[in-house]
Amino acid sequence: MPAPNSRLTTFLEECRQRIDTELERRLSATGNGSGRLQQAMRYSVLGGGKRIRPALCMAAAAALGQPQDKATVPACTLELVHAYSLIHDDLPAMDDDELRRGRATTHIAFDEATAILAGDALQTLAFGWLADAPGLSDQIRLALIRELASASGHLGMVGGQAIDLESVGKRLTIDQLEKMHRHKTGALIAASVRMGALTAPGVSDDQLSALTIYSQTLGLAFQVQDDLLDIEGDTAVIGKPQGSDLARAKPTYPSLLGTMGARDYLAQLLDAALSSLEGFGEEGDILRDMAGYVVARTH
Ligand code: IPE
Ligand code: IPE
Ligand code: MG
Ligand code: MG
Ligand code: MG
Repeated sequence: MPAPNSRLTTFLEECRQRIDTELERRLSATGNGSGRLQQAMRYSVLGGGKRIRPALCMAAAAALGQPQDKATVPACTLELVHAYSLIHDDLPAMDDDELRRGRATTHIAFDEATAILAGDALQTLAFGWLADAPGLSDQIRLALIRELASASGHLGMVGGQAIDLESVGKRLTIDQLEKMHRHKTGALIAASVRMGALTAPGVSDDQLSALTIYSQTLGLAFQVQDDLLDIEGDTAVIGKPQGSDLARAKPTYPSLLGTMGARDYLAQLLDAALSSLEGFGEEGDILRDMAGYVVARTH
């Protein structure tokens, strides 16, 4: 796989800075609530992370000629929901992991109750920020809220997490595994691209359907690579415990297809993601780069 090119490296770095600055600014406002809860929220959101979902949101906005500032708050809300999903995913009742982004998971750094509440609070905060997102019409804000709600709820990410937990120790069919991955990870990744596109008032139905296919394919590819990294990655590089899936008897693509089979599947998904962007010219190049990055990432 080619190393990420410099165009993508520059884009990812600019996105990361923009998102981290906005998240830091917004999360530094302290209210009258619990200081400990607010610390746990900051710990979970501001402690690193690749910021892939915000980058996809900004890349989709860019593909439609939309200024980055209009996509900034929607991009941040994806990271809030993502951070909440990770806090809960790491809890003893779920994956029971103690390492995330190279440091203690939130329930270890704080305590379980605070971690649960931090996740809850981040989730509702995301919708509050969307309701007031600057530079967008009420109609667009409503569409973004609808998109994030459906992608993260019981028919999206949370539904996928439920399937994941019900599947422990079982041998799923490929179709069942695909359904699980499309929900638990694919839904929020698809929403990331779609929300970026929805910030553009002139987005056409054709553009949105092409981007939906791209994003769903990429979302699935993202989790296939995550499964591979659980087997082939190094704890020091991935920042989370290597072998966690195996230890918890989680069904994964490599466990079903072998690592070679999972890699072949990933290559097919990359081709499909790139084909779905055929209607886009140069303005879609960052999305193309992002697809290459998602399947080749090392952490
Ligand atoms: C990890 O997501 C959780 C999955 C959905 C597989 P990321 O790999 O995007 O995690 P961070 O945000 O970079 O830590
Ligand atoms: C997590 O999948 C998906 C969500 C958090 C929604 P994993 O359990 O595979 O993610 P990691 O490997 O812990 O990051
Ligand atoms: Mg999990
Ligand atoms: Mg996990
Ligand atoms: Mg994983």
